[in-house]
Amino acid sequence: MEDLEKVIATLTAEKKTLEKKLQVAEKARKRTENFKNQNEAVIAQINIKLTQTLKQLQLTQLELIQSEKMAGLGQLIAGVSHEINTPAGAIVNSISGILKDNPTFIEGMIQIMSELPQNLFPHLRFCIRTVTASKGAGTSDERHMARDLDKILQAHEIPTCMSFSRNLAAIGFDKENIEQLLPLLQLPIRESLYQFLYILGTNASHTRNIKIGIDKIIRLVKALKLYSHSDQDQIASIRLEEDFETTLIILHNKLKQGITIIKEFEPIPDVKCFADQLNQVWTNLINNAIEAMKGNGRIILRLKRMDDSFVKVEIEDNGPGIETSIRPKIFDPFFTTKPKGEGTGLGLSISKEIIEKHHGTIDVESIPGKTLFTVKLPIDLHHIIK
Ligand SMILES: Nc1ncnc2c1ncn2[C@@H]1O[C@H](COP(=O)(O)OP(=O)(O)O)[C@@H](O)[C@H]1O
Ligand SMILES: [Mg+2]
Repeated sequence: MEDLEKVIATLTAEKKTLEKKLQVAEKARKRTENFKNQNEAVIAQINIKLTQTLKQLQLTQLELIQSEKMAGLGQLIAGVSHEINTPAGAIVNSISGILKDNPTFIEGMIQIMSELPQNLFPHLRFCIRTVTASKGAGTSDERHMARDLDKILQAHEIPTCMSFSRNLAAIGFDKENIEQLLPLLQLPIRESLYQFLYILGTNASHTRNIKIGIDKIIRLVKALKLYSHSDQDQIASIRLEEDFETTLIILHNKLKQGITIIKEFEPIPDVKCFADQLNQVWTNLINNAIEAMKGNGRIILRLKRMDDSFVKVEIEDNGPGIETSIRPKIFDPFFTTKPKGEGTGLGLSISKEIIEKHHGTIDVESIPGKTLFTVKLPIDLHHIIK
């Protein structure tokens, strides 16, 4: 009996201990759960904050890209308006010239029709053909020819002076074809005949200048159209040669002062890429070269095929180069050595981003007198991201 009581007492004691342990364990569990709940709340809050920050960062990045694009656009518009202004000015001048001379031209024609002897009409026809077909000699050739013409006119006792001979040379007469004009210049209506032919000749050159001006404007508009391709992330097949032509037309204003462009284009296949983004890279790289050379120097553009799947684009300038100490930083956003307001420091970082989006690479080597940017691009982006 005693034994039994002992056993019961021990068991009761053990039960109590166990109950206590259970209580402790329960407390611990509750505390852990509390912790867990609190932690989850904190983590959720952190998550919300992180998402907000990320969104803010993405927005800032977008704004920055936009601001670099706007800066580029500003330069582009300045260049393009200048490029359009010049031919437009030439067109307006030529048209005014034609309009101003119209009355004299028509009066001259009427007088010629009524007073020119029948037998001299073939001479007039020849002269008309000569002055309308002439492209005008160069200025120094013209001076030469004028001297020859002056001698011939004097030999035929036709009143002349240097500016008269000069004008005849300018509209296409030389010592051979002047023969046909001589009998006309011996007539009493010689002044009208000369005026008529001179106006016809200058009108022909005005018309040619109008055509040249309009062709220039059309080329520019075409380039702008290609440049502003609006299918953002669409993959399309492009000829890099053409892409460079477009970029060069757009940059023409900056290039024409003192930059020589050498193109070493090997035959390469068309490249499937985000068509409207690559010219932003070429514009940045060429722009940087022009700026580094302060508008004077030489840029070599190279296109090569590397293998079945890649092409290589090289842009080399003979400017001062990039110091070794800053070379690792040039692709960083905001890194610029240009004065405030001139450089955004985003050109190369955006270029790198665009090239990496194409699964390509962009690298630079530089010593004073030779800076070489190399871009490797897959020929078929479709194939890679499929
Ligand atoms: N062809 C180059 N020759 C010399 N330095 C260059 C050349 N290209 C880029 N750099 C250097 O890299 C820097 C960063 O270029 P980029 O990202 O285009 O910004 P930004 O042109 O606005 O300065 C330039 O400020 C310049 O110091
Ligand atoms: Mg730049």
